[in-house]
Amino acid sequence: MSNQVECKVENGYIIAPKGLKNVVPDVTYISGVDPKGEHTIYRGYTIDDIGANASFYEATWLFHKGELPCDEELKEIKKKIDTYRGQIPEKIFDALKLVPKAHPMYYGAFGVTLLGQYNAPDEWRFDEDFLFEHALRLIAQLPVIFAAGWNLAHHGTIIRPDPNLDHAKDVLRMIIRRMPSDLEARAFESSLVLYMDHGFNASTFTTRVIASTLSDMYSAIAGGIGALKGPLHGGANEKALVMLLEAKKLAEEKGKPLEEYIEEYILEKLAKKEKIMGFGHRVYKIHDPRTDVAAKYIQQLPEGEYWLKVLKKAEEVMWREKKLPANIDFYTAILYYQLGIPIPMFTPVFAMGRIVGWTAHYIEQVLNNKIIRPSEKYVGPVGKKYQPLEARCKK
Ligand SMILES: CC(C)(COP(=O)(O)OP(=O)(O)OC[C@H]1O[C@@H](n2cnc3c(N)ncnc32)[C@H](O)[C@@H]1OP(=O)(O)O)[C@@H](O)C(=O)NCCC(=O)NCCS
Repeated sequence: MSNQVECKVENGYIIAPKGLKNVVPDVTYISGVDPKGEHTIYRGYTIDDIGANASFYEATWLFHKGELPCDEELKEIKKKIDTYRGQIPEKIFDALKLVPKAHPMYYGAFGVTLLGQYNAPDEWRFDEDFLFEHALRLIAQLPVIFAAGWNLAHHGTIIRPDPNLDHAKDVLRMIIRRMPSDLEARAFESSLVLYMDHGFNASTFTTRVIASTLSDMYSAIAGGIGALKGPLHGGANEKALVMLLEAKKLAEEKGKPLEEYIEEYILEKLAKKEKIMGFGHRVYKIHDPRTDVAAKYIQQLPEGEYWLKVLKKAEEVMWREKKLPANIDFYTAILYYQLGIPIPMFTPVFAMGRIVGWTAHYIEQVLNNKIIRPSEKYVGPVGKKYQPLEARCKK
């Protein structure tokens, strides 16, 4: 992959490429691609190593403290996250009763700003202990808000958090409205860890931009949720499943096995210049290692072998036709389908993992801050003069 930066300098201004592709606005110690450009690293470990092996609590501690926790630290973070899950002010649940059946990402943005109004002191502070405490509250409480919003809008009742359950199991239970098996809970937990961070992705960068104004963490996270909602970012896992289910239905109507029909389906879409959701990545140009971890769990869940055959065939076709690899969203689309997670909750689930990265990046930004305020190159007209309505709209 060429990292040739197409920047020009004009009158002392750097004209960056559209989308800031290959532009590095800052350094980070949290996560990113290693200097050889081969692996995404979480605080020194490869993403697939942590995704396959670490618990939600271990990975959260790693992001925030830079090292995997020891016994006492693990007990501390588990206790805090499990306790905070149950400490959402009742009035927030009351407010969520008012939300319509909208996309659940709205519940998150709405709920997080409400949480800020209840949790944050009038004077926001910038010391590490204070920031870590609020990060843990957000990490624990955002999933409860998403699940409550969804359950209220679709089922009319809230499923309350259970502090005696592990975070991932409890969150999945609130979403699917039944007790998950240990395997289901671990598959879900692993996906949350895989989603935790990814360098300066769009929602993390949004969060850092808001942090750089020294706004509070709740406001910054609300911005991150907004950025993640877009189909080119977090929304891709939902769109990927919708596409795979459409292909499945068409294959059944045509009496063809999906693992064969998927080729025809993709080729038709590409011929119409449509994007195949769940393929392509700004960083991974050859292979997204997170897909290997997700595949391991897909295989163990219902119809795993069948779905893996479909996914592998789709990957083969996309690589042959476009030289694009599948990304994590193509795999979590099927994993979440197997777990029985409602499709509109896929992006909220992504946010439930990514909030660990967002909060760590918020803290890194504010503790070594410079407001992020790029310049623009204005290319619109100049010299116009205001005309009253009658004069400017004369026929
Ligand atoms: C992720 C994504 C935004 C990366 O964007 P990017 O690095 O700017 O890559 P580009 O959009 O410039 O794509 C380069 C080329 O591949 C094509 N392409 C990229 N992703 C594609 C996809 N999923 N399906 C079909 N073609 C795709 C583009 O059309 C472009 O073709 P062109 O050069 O002929 O115009 C992009 O691949 C995408 O939209 N993927 C689908 C959404 C998705 O899965 N997002 C989740 C990311 S984790």
